[in-house]
Amino acid sequence: MTCILHLDSSPRGDRSLSRGLTSEFNRTWQQTYPEDKIIYRDLGHNPVPFVDESWIAAAFSQAGQLTPELKSAIEISDRLIDEFLAAKICVFGIPMYNYGVPANFKAYIDQIVRVGRTFAVTSSGYEGLVKEPKKILVITTRGGSYKDSPLDFQEPYLRAVFELIGIADLTFIHAENLAMGDEARQKSLAEARTAIQQFIEIC
Ligand SMILES: Cc1cc2nc3c(=O)[nH]c(=O)nc-3n(C[C@H](O)[C@H](O)[C@H](O)COP(=O)(O)O)c2cc1C
Repeated sequence: MTCILHLDSSPRGDRSLSRGLTSEFNRTWQQTYPEDKIIYRDLGHNPVPFVDESWIAAAFSQAGQLTPELKSAIEISDRLIDEFLAAKICVFGIPMYNYGVPANFKAYIDQIVRVGRTFAVTSSGYEGLVKEPKKILVITTRGGSYKDSPLDFQEPYLRAVFELIGIADLTFIHAENLAMGDEARQKSLAEARTAIQQFIEIC
């Protein structure tokens, strides 16, 4: 049985195009592999907290020196990291907001990219601590188009941050031109759906 982690980060509900595409992934995956387990987290409607001063103090303390207060400051982070590590495949639905990821997805990244849990600082630099193979499928939705554009701060950022913790197997499906009229939107969504089917076939 494969464990899949599905995250949505659009604050929109039924009107969200990224949610439509991640549900397409779920539907097809469940039809193909009904025994697999899909864990769902809705960051768009139930965001995780931002890191704060006690979180930072706790993250940089030795495990044996954590007071009950410090332990509770990173309890959510521990839970999110355990959930993330348990998944073999992660599927993230991420709208483009102001060239980057929405704040709720950034808050999630800040919770799971943690010294001593998902990366280490060594004398020769950073070392990713995620050693089990893991695939990440990122489905982005965008009003415009960013092919070969320096304004795409989503894909380079996500590749860099996941590589820091040890994951290089990322696939991006960008549904673009969604604000460029109905024809462009339908074409882009159809291409994204095909790319999702192809991703599932090669998994
Ligand atoms: C606050 C905000 C910022 C946005 N910034 C961008 C942007 O920088 N570039 C872009 O192409 N589209 C931008 N968009 C358009 C969204 O990416 C697009 O509507 C997408 O479909 C939203 O995903 P969703 O349908 O899953 O909610 C923005 C939309 C919002 C609401």
